[in-house]
Amino acid sequence: MKVIPGPASPELGARIAERMGVESHPAVHRLFPDGESYIRITAPLKEETAVIVQTTFPDPDKSLLQLFLMVDAAKDAGAKEVACVVPYLAYARQDKRFLEGEALSLKTISKLLGASGVDRLIVVDVHEPEALEGFCDEAGVQVTNLSAMPDLAEYLKMNGFDGAFSLSPDEGAIGLAESAGAVLGGEVSFFTKERDRHTGEIEMVVKDIAVRGRRAVVFDDIVSSGGTTARAVKGLKKLEAVRVAAVCTHGLFMGGAREKILDAGADVLVATDTVQTPTSLVSVSRLIADHLKKV
Ligand code: R5P
Repeated sequence: MKVIPGPASPELGARIAERMGVESHPAVHRLFPDGESYIRITAPLKEETAVIVQTTFPDPDKSLLQLFLMVDAAKDAGAKEVACVVPYLAYARQDKRFLEGEALSLKTISKLLGASGVDRLIVVDVHEPEALEGFCDEAGVQVTNLSAMPDLAEYLKMNGFDGAFSLSPDEGAIGLAESAGAVLGGEVSFFTKERDRHTGEIEMVVKDIAVRGRRAVVFDDIVSSGGTTARAVKGLKKLEAVRVAAVCTHGLFMGGAREKILDAGADVLVATDTVQTPTSLVSVSRLIADHLKKV
């Protein structure tokens, strides 16, 4: 198995290779003056399994195109199987057509992954695993969604949140709070979120849950603008939770998202390294390496 970190995931790719006890072979990458990407795979791949590690942030379009180039180059170099670890998969939130005529981006991306030669796709806490499975199935790509929630909850447990209340900011993410809650050992609940499909504005219904005088954690898959998590934190503070942690797998933290969440009253902010930022306090490298060793 040859681990090939792409230009968007040099650190995580190297960590995964190290945990697997194999050499890391970063793809050579340059930008042409017009902004096009030059990619070269130097690992010997004949009859090998190539594991390409490429997240899709901060530049989703470019990272995806680089991924397609790496996959095709790996196949041309004789790899018998190409597995792509895309820890944060961009375009995954548009998993349905909410308004007529919209591009169904998750379907398009799945088709392109299949067409470029991906045999296996490994993602972490993708927004809607069943939707991805369906589209990947049609595209002939075998997909695995790993969850960082137990590791994130373990980190919180070690850092003062043992027995805390686990909350998801909308009902759709309750599974994340439940798996974290199983580690933390406290109760689990959710608030309700409505998004206006035209303006993108969200509204949160804070239901009365018994967090008064307790510690509580908001778990979500992604923090982008921070609006969702900030509203949930505010809700918990209004219900008089004493200490609140805001936790996500993919910390995109656009604009002033961090400040927004901290101003809302969060005491702690934690994310993983699917997207490398100063808030990446938990690594998904062990999770991914263990999975790769198994398959
Ligand atoms: C959407 O349902 C996701 O699970 C996240 O809640 C959402 O993407 C977060 O976005 P933002 O930080 O912009 O509110």
